[in-house]
Amino acid sequence: MRWWDIDRVLELEKDLFPEDAWSRGMFWSELAHARGPEATRRYLVAEGEERIVGYAGLASSGDQADVQTIAVARGHQGTGLGGRLLTELLRAATAFECHEVLLECRVDNIPAQKLYERYGFEPIGFRRGYYQPGNVDALVMRLTTDQATEEKNHG
Ligand SMILES: CC(C)(COP(=O)(O)OP(=O)(O)OC[C@H]1O[C@@H](n2cnc3c(N)ncnc32)[C@H](O)[C@@H]1OP(=O)(O)O)[C@@H](O)C(=O)NCCC(=O)NCCS
Repeated sequence: MRWWDIDRVLELEKDLFPEDAWSRGMFWSELAHARGPEATRRYLVAEGEERIVGYAGLASSGDQADVQTIAVARGHQGTGLGGRLLTELLRAATAFECHEVLLECRVDNIPAQKLYERYGFEPIGFRRGYYQPGNVDALVMRLTTDQATEEKNHG
């Protein structure tokens, strides 16, 4: 994702997260940390035939990474695109040398939870009233790659 993608990303953001859409400034701020040798963010867009149809972002901090956002345009959901975006984020987490990936997800967002579970994320707790307005709880999910790393190290 580059700054010139933000207009289209914001359209999708407002449609897909009507209650708590990110602002333009939030995307600018994330992208400011996505380039150069000190980069801590990785942001992607998925391009359809004519326009952007999905996007996703990851932030790293030490050996931990967070899925910041992942979204697929309504007409393209259920086609595997979410999985492809998540695969790329997990690749980025490996490149950042993170051994743990965390995310928050609305407790009522079953399609997203199914996607994360398919990739090995496990529920580890709740954040009460995390999503405002609406006072909706977040499910916190975690994927640890320690085991995979150990297996690699031991041959
Ligand atoms: C969550 C999201 C990114 C998944 O993307 P996607 O391209 O639909 O993902 P996939 O096609 O890989 O499908 C993921 C799972 O959700 C299921 N699914 C997709 N759309 C669905 C729907 N409308 N209703 C029920 N299940 C659905 C799929 O069957 C699949 O389940 P499976 O892994 O058991 O087969 C997408 O639905 C989306 O953008 N939602 C709105 C924004 C959002 O909620 N983002 C996540 C915030 S935590």
